[in-house]
Amino acid sequence: MQIDAQKDESSAAYADTASKARKVFVKTYGCQMNVYDSERMADALASDGYRVTDNPEDADLLLLNTCHIREKAAEKVYSELGRIRQLKEARAANGEDLMVGVAGCVAQAEGQEIIRRAPVVDLVIGPQTYHRLPEALARARGGEKVVETDYAIEDKFEHLPRPEKEVIAARGVTAFLTVQEGCDKFCTFCVVPYTRGSEVSRPVGQIVREAENLVSAGVREITLLGQNVNAWHGAGPDGREWGLGELLRRLSDIDGLERLRYTTSHPRDMDDALIAAHRDLEKLMPYLHLPVQAGSDSVLKAMNRRHTAQDYLRLVDRIRAARPDIALSGDFIVGFPGESDADFEATLQLVEKVRYAQAFSFKYSPRPGTPGAERDDQVPEDVKSKRLDRLQALLRKHQSEFADSCIGTEIDLLLEKPGRLAGQLIGRSPWLQPVIVDANPSQIGEIIRVRITRAGANALFADKIQGESGSSTI
Ligand code: SAH
Ligand code: SF4
Ligand code: F3S
Repeated sequence: MQIDAQKDESSAAYADTASKARKVFVKTYGCQMNVYDSERMADALASDGYRVTDNPEDADLLLLNTCHIREKAAEKVYSELGRIRQLKEARAANGEDLMVGVAGCVAQAEGQEIIRRAPVVDLVIGPQTYHRLPEALARARGGEKVVETDYAIEDKFEHLPRPEKEVIAARGVTAFLTVQEGCDKFCTFCVVPYTRGSEVSRPVGQIVREAENLVSAGVREITLLGQNVNAWHGAGPDGREWGLGELLRRLSDIDGLERLRYTTSHPRDMDDALIAAHRDLEKLMPYLHLPVQAGSDSVLKAMNRRHTAQDYLRLVDRIRAARPDIALSGDFIVGFPGESDADFEATLQLVEKVRYAQAFSFKYSPRPGTPGAERDDQVPEDVKSKRLDRLQALLRKHQSEFADSCIGTEIDLLLEKPGRLAGQLIGRSPWLQPVIVDANPSQIGEIIRVRITRAGANALFADKIQGESGSSTI
């Protein structure tokens, strides 16, 4: 899962100017699942008369959608709540009210403790109960400190309202769609099985309806989300249980949907049908986020990843045989307890073999309640920092070599939004790189044919190929 979510981080991306409506400001931390959830919370609140604002000063309700994955992520929430306390006090001095809610994985993990540490908070709500948000908020407005972190028995997706077409359109031409939540893998470093609960897959019909609704409002690219997306196994309309490969085939039949992606995958759940989907489906983009975490078998075993480095490399070979131009992306943890210098060298060797087009790497952060945190062979902070620097230098080198290898090639580009300079638009390459090109804003949502001319630090630059329009393939 990519932690720096690709979508607008600060608030759901549609602000409303209607002055009468109550206004909510949503700040999103963490992964793409939280970006999706922030939009669902905005949808639930819309039915309660709230409009989203991108200005916290303007809001009647501040909602923090939080992440618990590493200590730093969780602590950010408390510093933000400190700033919010001042805002709330200033409001109160003017006789105005400001409600404060904490949602997401910190809410689920810490519950009541949040209100104890930060009394400014009126409402704590966990990811399984977002459909109950309006009702929980009504109680909070009545003066109750509300903590709503049950694992709901009902299916929240059945109860969350559908957004209006204009709302979907204002969010852009790409969209996330959560198909699976929770995790049963229990990697020994990770909080997700505790914050998101056990694995649940949404049924095919529900997913297809949501996808069709998005496409009818102008969405051209959908990224299926799950903490373990390729473990998805949902009930099909034929009464059988489907796998992700089959779901992708079904979705690629939707007219007007041009591109499909999915994230995050676990190496253990990459089955033959899913690999075949990469071979067969033109709409499935040649990009795969497939975290390995480490390259040493003893560390992988201690992490409970349940595969070896060799298993992973063989899997990568099979995927590349099916789709030779696929770009791989990964997550890495350095300094898991007991990781020796030799173990770390094995991670560098694996990286050399795979050559990732994109990667996210982190120092191990002990998380309360996980087995890794209990171990007495923690790696010192300075060793972790040095290892992270070396790993990141290598990953950066491969990433920029991959970007350079794109120069001179022709690709199809889905135009997503205005660039920083007038006359520029930003799109994504099939390999998820941002690409900047001179184009007219009316072309947002189109796929055009371009030639890559230059690789910058964070984006590629391209020229339109005159007289040719793009197709849905690369
Ligand atoms: N389900 C995904 C990962 C979700 S968490 C998977 O299995 O790959 C996203 C990433 O955060 C992980 O891949 C891991 O690299 C990192 N991460 C998780 N827990 C961590 C911890 N305690 N310390 C440092 N990084 C961590
Ligand atoms: Fe966390 Fe492992 Fe589950 Fe990924 S597979 S969410 S790393 S426990
Ligand atoms: Fe963070 Fe929760 Fe996502 S812990 S990474 S927001 S699933």
